[in-house]
Amino acid sequence: MEKLMIRGGRPLRGTVQISGAKNSAVALVPAAILAESEVTLDNLPHLSDVAVYREILEDLGAEIEWHGDVMKIDPSAAVSRPMPNGKVKLLRASYYLMGALLGRFGEVTIGLPGGCNFEPRPIDQHIKGFEALGATVTNEHGSIRIHAKELRGAKIYLDVVSVGATINIMLAASRAKGLTIIENAAKEPEIIDVATLLSAMGAKIKGAGTETIRIEGVERLHGCRHSIIPDRIQAGTYMIAAAATHGDVVIDNVIPKHMEAMTAKLEEMGVEVIELDESIRIIGRPDYSAIDVKALVYPGFATDLQSPMTSLLTQAKGVSILTDYVYSNRFKHVPELARMGANIRTEGRSAIIEGSTLHAAKVRAADLRAGAALVVAALTVTDGITEISGVEYIDRGYDNLVDNLRMLGADVWREVDTEEEEWGAVE
Ligand code: EPU
Repeated sequence: MEKLMIRGGRPLRGTVQISGAKNSAVALVPAAILAESEVTLDNLPHLSDVAVYREILEDLGAEIEWHGDVMKIDPSAAVSRPMPNGKVKLLRASYYLMGALLGRFGEVTIGLPGGCNFEPRPIDQHIKGFEALGATVTNEHGSIRIHAKELRGAKIYLDVVSVGATINIMLAASRAKGLTIIENAAKEPEIIDVATLLSAMGAKIKGAGTETIRIEGVERLHGCRHSIIPDRIQAGTYMIAAAATHGDVVIDNVIPKHMEAMTAKLEEMGVEVIELDESIRIIGRPDYSAIDVKALVYPGFATDLQSPMTSLLTQAKGVSILTDYVYSNRFKHVPELARMGANIRTEGRSAIIEGSTLHAAKVRAADLRAGAALVVAALTVTDGITEISGVEYIDRGYDNLVDNLRMLGADVWREVDTEEEEWGAVE
């Protein structure tokens, strides 16, 4: 295991390129299984989650080539093999194998997903969707078996707006007989990205990005080429880091429309934000005002950015309140920020943050976005080196983080973490 070492206090300056979106990639790679010929994905991020997905697909018999940011997936020889344990447990998003394998083969047996367990994350809405499509879902020795002689289109109302359930149902329904209507669907840009890939594969999908999605099932899907959208969470994290260090950074390869909530909140604090066609420039200011932030489903402020935003709010004058309406207790970064001197506490789904100066400390990333919060916090520290262990979580979502931060002038490096044993297991 490794740890991140950050000697903070330097304003970030320059340009950073944002890679393709992790939360699209982890759906698009398994979606390729639905096709019967080669799918090429461009702008694929280099992330540990994508590397694990590659191995899982190869275990299922798909042929994969991955050079730079291009992955070619030939799923023609793939089969649906039981996957009770092993690699599927490393990924939260392994649940997309359910929809993809069910759609192509009518059968899948898979262990429950792993990933960032910042709180219980049920998949009841995914299961509700598969059952509505005519599948039988059983628990077999801790694995989920889903099978159907024939998938039939259905009207499915999601009780909770869920990104994963919306995508999983789209995957299975694209090869079901007849029309599926998903109501109360999630509207995140990653949903549109998956619908765009499926449409290029020959699926008939309307309404992705709205709360009602209509999928007319087809018998076969074919290969295609698709370019993944930029990662709005990585982009937002660099926007926050630029502001927190009072820097001046151009964040390139973004869709500014996806960043509207982030942009609005930064401006409210007093950060200067300049939107260009495919980039956003952040110009930091010496002082920021405290603000309230509510994390909501898209197009609201993204829950995945509430942790790094917490770190930025420690740099504002006064008391900020950040409330997460998507997850009730996604606050594993809070005790670690307190270790760095943050004046911060949680109350129910809210973090109450009073502006303060942060100090160097040894801290641990307990999940991916908690790790991003600690990186932002460490970049503001002027009195020494912050050591962040649990880097494997950060590697799940930030392509090229150390090099990117170095190019922006930060003093950051990785070291072997000899104390890792003392922290205990990572999951
Ligand atoms: N929920 C249910 N039942 C379900 C599904 C979800 O109750 O069947 C609840 C969850 O407990 C949560 C809410 O609905 O309170 C939203 O969950 P959602 O299903 O939308 O989350 P997800 O699809 O599992 C994706 C991202 C997360 C991101 C959320 C919300 C992927 C692989 N993950 O998760 O990203 O936080 O949407 O936007 O796309 C991250 O990148 O760090 C990350 C955790």
